[in-house]
Amino acid sequence: MSRIDVAALITALGGRESLQHLLGVGPSAVSNYLTKGALPNRARPLVCQALQERGYQVDPQSLSITALPLVKSGRPQARERQGAAILLIVGGGIAAYKALEVSRRLQDHGIKVTGVMTKAAQQFITPLSLSALTAQKTYSDLFSLTEEAEMGHIRLARETDLVVVVPATASLMARTAQGLADDLATTLLLATKAPIIMAPAMNPAMWSNAATQANLATLRQRGIEVIGPVTGETACGEEGKGRMSGPDTIVTAAVAKLAQTVSAGALTGKHALVTSGPTVEPLDAVRFISNHSSGRQGHAIAAALARRGTRVTLVSGPVNIPDPPGVAMIHVRTAEQMLAACKAALPADIAICTAAVADWRAQKPVKGKIKKLPGDTAAPTISLTKNPDILAQLSSHSQRPKLVIGFAAETDNLQANASEKLRRKGCDWILANAVSPDSSDGTVFGNEHNKVSLITSDEKEDWPMMLKTELADKLVQRIINTIGVVNAKN
Ligand code: CTP
Repeated sequence: MSRIDVAALITALGGRESLQHLLGVGPSAVSNYLTKGALPNRARPLVCQALQERGYQVDPQSLSITALPLVKSGRPQARERQGAAILLIVGGGIAAYKALEVSRRLQDHGIKVTGVMTKAAQQFITPLSLSALTAQKTYSDLFSLTEEAEMGHIRLARETDLVVVVPATASLMARTAQGLADDLATTLLLATKAPIIMAPAMNPAMWSNAATQANLATLRQRGIEVIGPVTGETACGEEGKGRMSGPDTIVTAAVAKLAQTVSAGALTGKHALVTSGPTVEPLDAVRFISNHSSGRQGHAIAAALARRGTRVTLVSGPVNIPDPPGVAMIHVRTAEQMLAACKAALPADIAICTAAVADWRAQKPVKGKIKKLPGDTAAPTISLTKNPDILAQLSSHSQRPKLVIGFAAETDNLQANASEKLRRKGCDWILANAVSPDSSDGTVFGNEHNKVSLITSDEKEDWPMMLKTELADKLVQRIINTIGVVNAKN
């Protein structure tokens, strides 16, 4: 029997956990299916049916997906159409020729591909070759009157479900980060409301240059997914990080992103309460107790929930990152203010506590500044008192959200400690960070990456190291897969 593309099926089903849930198997069984490229016979009809229920067309023999579901993007001009549509922007680099392969493979998934080429890209491949492969007109000129009459650039930007940039050159990344609209490609990137994936390719020195890295951080912060680059020999003959990811990796990411778009409205009508950032507990008029929490993880989760149509209340302590778009923001400073804001935001369907709440506060903060008197040698005594546990209070509240999720940073006995915390606080899931006591990489604070294990009352699942934004998307996908089950219990 020929190999089954198990990775594609997992993507279409909404993640590994969905397949595990569907077949009643553990993570190792799924790893086995992926390695072997095969599924047990009993699984085939279940997978086929689940995919059909999600709107996919599947060949029951080969289990290959022959057409994607109708995409409802929720955008004002959105219209239903057969399959999904991708705008493929080709940048000017030697990797441009790989865009042809990407376009072909995207179409194998039943996706309509429309090409857009920068001027520089045309030094490497011709619009004609891309048009021949996509069977669509390839656009390149912002000021072409025919193109404006037939398809204004705003329409071109809006009538797509996803924008994929292959290759994303240093210049294209910089201009996008700057918000420039000086050619058709950058204008579309600025005008689109669809998600964007970029696959960078450039000389390793250009990639590691601080300017490119700053642009990368800006683009990621704005929700653009960046695939690669990988380490290897680059077109200029230098070894290093800068080689574009392979077409397979780019296509898999694009199909996964489209699957997310399909579930864009999955949490519409739900209300989620998210806590984020540190709390700041005053000792006197100028001093305080706090911690290094950056709020990145909580803000990313709030943004990911909002993208899926959830009404989100984000209660955050002071952070240096912008408020995520589309959420109701409540800025607080102390744990007591955070608790009050959370209670006031109830009822909610989901609560996710990511805030690093200070465990203690001064029993009686001094009104003015505590002064050192001349000749004073002794340090002042400050009496502390325990702060309320917001997660525990939400879990035992009379208006308890159906799904309550906490985070836990553990130095050792990850599973035992996190499971104990889960029980003690009465929440449903804990995302536990294994923080090694002696390593600085244990500092997830302020970092863009995070590594967690998802612990529930009866299972533990290790998630690999990933960007906090990716973790947010994965958690939200998991919530979408679960919320039906939670609802059914109540
Ligand atoms: N939490 C909370 N209110 C508190 C303390 C913690 O809501 N006063 C929440 C955090 O947002 C997190 C979870 O509880 O989701 C676990 O926080 P953590 O600091 O790991 O645990 P602690 O309760 O402080 O326990 P310990 O310090 O003993 O590990």
